[in-house]
Amino acid sequence: MPPSHLVFWTFAWLLLGTTTAVAWLGQREMSARDVGDHRRAMRLAGWLVGLFLVAYGAKLALLGREHLDTWPAPMVTLLRVHESFMAVVVASGLVAWRMAPRGLRSADEPPSRPRHRRLGWTALLAVSGGFATATALLAGMFLALD
Ligand code: HEM
Repeated sequence: MPPSHLVFWTFAWLLLGTTTAVAWLGQREMSARDVGDHRRAMRLAGWLVGLFLVAYGAKLALLGREHLDTWPAPMVTLLRVHESFMAVVVASGLVAWRMAPRGLRSADEPPSRPRHRRLGWTALLAVSGGFATATALLAGMFLALD
């Protein structure tokens, strides 16, 4: 059995992978002009990010922080890049959500929302970068096990 913090990070990686997949599904729904399914998928992606933040709070309380002073410098840099991606996801995702049109039904023709669209793409590309860097970080943490 790997140490508890690696069990947590494996769970977090699965959660982020699911979030990324759901967000891309939401983008596909918008390409298909299905605003109802787009809204449902993006809300689910948002709730999954919220679930991670709650789980991360519990991890900090129960297991504490990682010992970054024992990490090789490139891993710490990768972690900072990953954290930056995730900060962009939370900020641009929240603003995209706030700017989304309200009260539409699935059958309605989606109105044009260029700023929402740009922020949505920012969040989507950032969550994909966040998942790619999380994959490399998790691999690095497992490789560092004796
Ligand atoms: C929750 C309610 C939401 C509604 C009702 C909604 C609605 C829409 C609409 C009407 C468009 C088309 C805009 C246009 O073509 O000019 C759009 C595009 C888009 N939205 Fe949303 N949206 C929502 C949430 C989100 C969230 C939270 C994100 C990402 C964080 C997001 C990401 C995107 C992306 C990436 C596009 C562009 C899709 C493409 O280029 O094919 N949306 N949305």
